[in-house]
Amino acid sequence: AQAAALDRDCMTLSRHVLQQLQSFGPEAQDLSALMNRIALAGKLIARRLTHAGLMEDALGFTGRTNVQGEDVKRMDVFANDVFISVFKQSGLVCRLASEEMEKPYYIPENCPVGRYTLLYDPIDGSSNVDINLNVGSIFAIRQQTGDDVDQSAADLLQDGHEQIAAGYILYGPSTVLVYSMGYGVHAFTLDPSLGEFILSSENIRIPEHGPTYSVNEGNFWQWEDSIRDFIRYVHRHDGYSARYSGALVGDFHRILMQGGVFLYPGTVKKPEGKLRLLYETAPLAYLAEQAGGRASTGTQPILQVVPDKLHARTPLVIGSSDDVALVESFISERQ
Ligand code: AHG
Ligand code: MN
Ligand code: MN
Ligand code: MN
Repeated sequence: AQAAALDRDCMTLSRHVLQQLQSFGPEAQDLSALMNRIALAGKLIARRLTHAGLMEDALGFTGRTNVQGEDVKRMDVFANDVFISVFKQSGLVCRLASEEMEKPYYIPENCPVGRYTLLYDPIDGSSNVDINLNVGSIFAIRQQTGDDVDQSAADLLQDGHEQIAAGYILYGPSTVLVYSMGYGVHAFTLDPSLGEFILSSENIRIPEHGPTYSVNEGNFWQWEDSIRDFIRYVHRHDGYSARYSGALVGDFHRILMQGGVFLYPGTVKKPEGKLRLLYETAPLAYLAEQAGGRASTGTQPILQVVPDKLHARTPLVIGSSDDVALVESFISERQ
């Protein structure tokens, strides 16, 4: 038991990444260092969240609105800046694109052409921050193609298969980092006494069906009839239960671990849906497919969607393959 416990404590995130990428050669070192930087950002944000209630200026609103038209929380800004600061001197990424910045942040001085771009949602579920409920950070890594001299970042407007890695950090009772680089989905739990993310679940698989459906039913009146038909079906059939936390990362993590389906359909106010493709739906779709699940807009796989702009939104139906297919069947019946 002692040896096993020691083994577990030594399977750190960076060692796991190196193991996954043995055949990658020098790129493995870069990606391992990159994942370590993301882990450092996660630790810094987790620490702030833990103390926020005891600090003068950590919670609440900044009074500004972001490119999404949302009221920006102080924690949104703090977390956004944490990711920039941990990557600034790293020499690993050329650009950081985030929900909270209209344009990407460029780090040209120390980054040869063709290095990585980090796309991220620094705090997902901001509405939960002031009430101490789960929030997350979502990230995806893409390879910059071309040298983007006009800083239009046009090369980011490609489908989700361009993602080299994706994952999230869930700030809950424990801080959990989930990632995939195309070799399965793996979860690490932060051991604060070590300051390390230690492997806690390897090769996570989403069950083909699960009991949970996760959607904001307050939007019922704004949905297409097909979505209402699905919800009516679920209301009439035993074996389903509703779970919705208002933070995508927490709601998705439940689905990843236990099965079921999360939906954020298009609404009257947001026909394209609320969630953003490049740093919310595409990274989670990557994970869902790596774990044997599915992710679609309702009519096409999320990973095939080509965005027309950096902050493009898509509807999202994600989770167990059978449950995503069921939602899609209601949609195709109505077409
Ligand atoms: P963010 O806090 O990064 O803006 O994301 C919030 C998103 C997502 O986390 C969640 O699933 C969804 O907004 C909740 O939206 P509703 O309040 O409309 O249900
Ligand atoms: Mn937001
Ligand atoms: Mn979000
Ligand atoms: Mn956010």
